[in-house]
Amino acid sequence: MSLKFAVLISGGGTNLQALINAVERGTIKAEIALVISDRENAYGLERAKKHNIPNCVIARSAFNNALERDEKLLKTLEEHDVDFIMLAGYLSILTETIVKKYEKSIINIHPALIPNYSGKGFYGDVIHEAVLKNKDRQTGVTLHFVDAGVDSGPIICQERIPVLEIDTLDSLKARIHGVEHRLIVETVKNFCEGHIDGGGL
Ligand code: GRF
Repeated sequence: MSLKFAVLISGGGTNLQALINAVERGTIKAEIALVISDRENAYGLERAKKHNIPNCVIARSAFNNALERDEKLLKTLEEHDVDFIMLAGYLSILTETIVKKYEKSIINIHPALIPNYSGKGFYGDVIHEAVLKNKDRQTGVTLHFVDAGVDSGPIICQERIPVLEIDTLDSLKARIHGVEHRLIVETVKNFCEGHIDGGGL
């Protein structure tokens, strides 16, 4: 029986789209049981709808605190028999309620070479702008298991990406996204096939 997973998003969902395509092609032999967004207006929700994937919004603002939000999140994940979780541009920080329950079964994609540009406050354009400002010659993508910290769980894989003299925020972001879309599919495929043991690099 194939595994079921949830994809958690906050925005455009191009990584979600890469996963949807890979599942539909049969590259990933698993089912996207559910897409959850922490923002009403995340375009990724439209992508889920177009492909008839169950989806919902669980926004932090609807709860008194993150713990209450995660109780709802946990209930929803359990109702959909989710085996593992892919955080694909999900901006909320999960509490121990979820992290403990899905130990070594939550994967995050981060658009930098962890430990560089990681931790609280390092997400999205903030990272790429800092890379450009510091004139770094390389950046990259990291996929890692999620533990109780922020961007701190065991690393599954990393890929380096050169930063060019002529790079703008948009060109750098586009190149990073291209790598992400390949790496997220490879990682989920490997996880589903039992090739990732959770030990990290
Ligand atoms: C990606 O760069 C991902 O690494 C980061 O947020 C971005 C999400 O992009 N965590 P998208 O919504 O998948 O297009």
